[in-house]
Amino acid sequence: MVKATFTSSTRAVPEVGDVPAHIAVIMDGNGRWARSRFLPRIAGHRRGVESVRAVIRACMERGVTHLTLFAFSSENWRRPSDEVSFLMQLFMRALQNEVRRLHEHGIRFRVIGDLSRFEPRLIELIRDAENLTRDNDKLTLSIAANYGGRWDIVGAVNRLVARHPGRSDFSEDEIGAELAMNYAPEPDLFIRTGGEQRISNFLLWQLAYTELYFTDTLWPDFDEAALDAAIASYRGRERRFGRTSEQLGRASGVFERPDGDA
Ligand code: IPE
Ligand code: IPE
Ligand code: MG
Repeated sequence: MVKATFTSSTRAVPEVGDVPAHIAVIMDGNGRWARSRFLPRIAGHRRGVESVRAVIRACMERGVTHLTLFAFSSENWRRPSDEVSFLMQLFMRALQNEVRRLHEHGIRFRVIGDLSRFEPRLIELIRDAENLTRDNDKLTLSIAANYGGRWDIVGAVNRLVARHPGRSDFSEDEIGAELAMNYAPEPDLFIRTGGEQRISNFLLWQLAYTELYFTDTLWPDFDEAALDAAIASYRGRERRFGRTSEQLGRASGVFERPDGDA
């Protein structure tokens, strides 16, 4: 597959639109949603799938072209084993039931993360879904599963070192091109539901200049209106990428970094 090149936010100033082209979400608060209703935590995860559907639909209607959802972190294996296996089953079932529909809607489906710990059947479902939808271009839906930002960066660097023995001068562009999400622009908007204000080892590299939005709304309660509130907050931001406010009046298009180095 041909690798698209995207403007790196530290190497050049990216074009900024009214609607975020790429939204990345930490879907948090399923357990608390369930607990507040005296339900088991897994009921919250099940309900969270409804929010996923609603947000995908809303993103498509609003012209968002990339949506990345954090479904399972490399640290979530630390949870009780029955919750972990429920989450895996839920993922498997969602894939079986939804992939055809995603494809019909022109959605390209990708998974980022270390799949090696997943059951072979789940890996097969993921690969089939990716292959089926690979040429779709209306929305790229990426699911981060067993993903960790540090895992991603370490993997990228190790692959480069293995491929170029003796070299010690890798550039931002070379490392960026090795990351799991090398097929997508950096996120414009990051949303975390559930009230915590942390990154939890999500897209550490790519969030360099992403606008951060935190809401107390729990993921199962996150709907179209909640997404619009996040986008409205995004629209009110001044994305300076290191420049001054005064410069922005004159700025348009893409500028190379004046010093031109990596
Ligand atoms: C997010 O909800 C879903 C996953 C991490 C899989 P949580 O399960 O973390 O919900 P809380 O944070 O305990 O409420
Ligand atoms: C982050 O949520 C990971 C996902 C939403 C998949 P967590 O609930 O695992 O994060 P922490 O532990 O509160 O940081
Ligand atoms: Mg949580």
